[in-house]
Amino acid sequence: MTNRTVTVSIKRYNPETDKKPYWQDFQVELTAETTLLSALEDIKSDQDGSLTFRRSCRHAICGSCAMMVNRANMLVCDLPLEKVLDKNDRVTVEPLPYQPVIRDLVADQSSFWKQYERVKPWLVPPEGEHQREFRMTPEEVKALEHAEMCIMCGACYSSCPIIAGNKEYIGPHALLKAFMRVLDPRDTIPEERLDIVCNTEGAYRCHKVLNCTQACPKGLDPAKAIAVLANLGFRTGKISQERMERLRSLIPADEIPVKAAGD
Ligand code: FES
Repeated sequence: MTNRTVTVSIKRYNPETDKKPYWQDFQVELTAETTLLSALEDIKSDQDGSLTFRRSCRHAICGSCAMMVNRANMLVCDLPLEKVLDKNDRVTVEPLPYQPVIRDLVADQSSFWKQYERVKPWLVPPEGEHQREFRMTPEEVKALEHAEMCIMCGACYSSCPIIAGNKEYIGPHALLKAFMRVLDPRDTIPEERLDIVCNTEGAYRCHKVLNCTQACPKGLDPAKAIAVLANLGFRTGKISQERMERLRSLIPADEIPVKAAGD
């Protein structure tokens, strides 16, 4: 690859001064190492200090730098610029869609985080279990590995067409987390979780468009997780019982916490 000048076309918007968003083109030097994030940083440091975007880790771990590139959501920190250039050596960059824009490439993710909190994303272990090791089989750990890789970048959330018109929809990111907790054998409130997510604002609202799975930069499958939740919704009542039986098989009866799953 020879070094050359390419065009990064950015959707700009400052709600305090602009009536509406507009496109602005910047020329940047392309080298073998240029990522889209490094190109944005070059633009900010050398051409326009007012350009605003989020980033932190630069290693596709923190989830800060998700944006819409050539109309598809992705992380830009590990994205070689050359890979997304069209035949005219041009790429378009916009903020994640379906959310208000704070400025330039920064979307207001309040609804994303609000829905995440709604599913109680934390583990609720049996009472008295804080003092000892949680026991899980290798198979159980493997089953959860899939959902644990989520970095909360929001690429799935803002690719979902339901979010476009309905911010009360829980969204694929939070449903994936709920899936993980419901399947986690250490968690004691699977039925409460299913009550929260198995309704028309949650798993039953999914239209199975699969945009979320396509958008995930970590190769996760939120659409499948949502389908599993929807099926589990019909089994509410049996899950706690199964979990208690599992606990009995791993822990001597007199050691089972008084308020364990199924209470
Ligand atoms: S900057 Fe952290 S994921 Fe891209």
